[in-house]
Amino acid sequence: MNVLLIGSGGREHALARKISQSPLLEKFFAIPGSPGIADFAECVSNISIDDNAALVEFAKVNAIDLVVIGPEAPLVNGLTDALNEIGIKAFGPNKAAALLEGSKIFAKRLMKKYNIPTAEFEVFDDPDAAKNYIHSKGAPIVIKADGLAAGKGVIVAQTLDEALNAVDEMKTFGSAGNKIVVEEFMDGEEASVLALTDGEKILPLIAAQDHKRVFDGDKGLNTGGMGAYAPAPIVDEKISAQVEEKILKPTIAALKAEGIIYRGCLYAGLMIQNGEAKVVEFNCRFGDPETQVVLPLMESDLLELMNDCAAGDLSDKKISWSKNSAVCVILASGGYPKAYKKNLPIDGVIKAESLGAIIFHAGTKLIRNEELGIRNEKLVPSSLFLVPNCLVTSGGRVLGVTTIAPTLREAVEKVYRCVEVIHFEDMHYRKDIAARALN
Ligand code: AMP
Ligand code: GLY
Repeated sequence: MNVLLIGSGGREHALARKISQSPLLEKFFAIPGSPGIADFAECVSNISIDDNAALVEFAKVNAIDLVVIGPEAPLVNGLTDALNEIGIKAFGPNKAAALLEGSKIFAKRLMKKYNIPTAEFEVFDDPDAAKNYIHSKGAPIVIKADGLAAGKGVIVAQTLDEALNAVDEMKTFGSAGNKIVVEEFMDGEEASVLALTDGEKILPLIAAQDHKRVFDGDKGLNTGGMGAYAPAPIVDEKISAQVEEKILKPTIAALKAEGIIYRGCLYAGLMIQNGEAKVVEFNCRFGDPETQVVLPLMESDLLELMNDCAAGDLSDKKISWSKNSAVCVILASGGYPKAYKKNLPIDGVIKAESLGAIIFHAGTKLIRNEELGIRNEKLVPSSLFLVPNCLVTSGGRVLGVTTIAPTLREAVEKVYRCVEVIHFEDMHYRKDIAARALN
């Protein structure tokens, strides 16, 4: 099979690594890819992932059999529909189904109509009406922009003042914030359950837990995710069965009843309390960094499974899993999730790999050493002059360091040994990934 992967983050690097292990794989391209993905696929960086026409043309010219779409934006933008129109299969839901992530209002109304457990909510387009409702409910309370807001459109307000300010802040999200959802606050522990589906059958993956806040102890701002581990013990057999029967299957069936066939990865973000799981959000794609701990534990052929999903025929497939545990620590740029510097040289990746880490590139790029030397000689670690190119930072989340071991405790000990040998200026990371599960 000829495969094209869309995306450039740590999630896509993990997808590329797993896809590359499939005996079905022939040619492998990525748009735009990354220095990490380049180990597995030919990266093409002159096509935008928002340009459906150019992506379809690339897929046609290169006889692509399956396009694997990593991020949500191209899915919400209808890339799957555009590819399907000319007979090319895509892994990832079509535009109508991707609305499950693209519109919080759509997702909440669907859950309400079909009795899928989630927080109570009201929808507003008038800020004053939203504020009156907030006064009547009190804090804590949660305010959400309707549309995609790059993970920033959700404010969990602890006080009434914060909640009222949040309503005004929603305007800063452009059209995504024209309508807002005001939602009951749910207490509990979060977990992510992702599932592959062909629109009928569902294959849940092992559960993972992300760490969304920037600092240890779940302090500070929300980020794209600072680390993850799998399997997550909070999702025991009872919760797993409940999630499958009360959330995943009913959601796929609800969409079908609405005339929408969902094919791809369905991501349920859950809040678990007193043995009950409720939906915090749905995403229409693999999680980041959940993918970086889930896929390294998958023993089955992911490419075959994704191709079957896209073809609408998972039929009798099962997924087999390693008995090990995996943990991923994200190394972020100083200042992230706010402003941060770029182009800082990264040292120690090869050393960490020699200690057993799998390194996933989230925000890196290669630049020529001369270029870097001219800019700032002192910044270049001497070891990097041995190679013609220097790996530098280019994003907020820079690297994901994943380790695998027979127990979660061993995986955590190993991951921090590996993290310690990697350096870039102002690098920061959480020191308590998986700590809750270990206690
Ligand atoms: P979302 O983008 O909807 O996943 O929200 C981002 C984060 O905000 C979630 O991962 C939760 O930590 C938090 N959150 C969202 N909705 C709620 C809620 N109703 N109650 C408590 N926390 C929430
Ligand atoms: N880990 C959160 C997300 O992928 O949205």
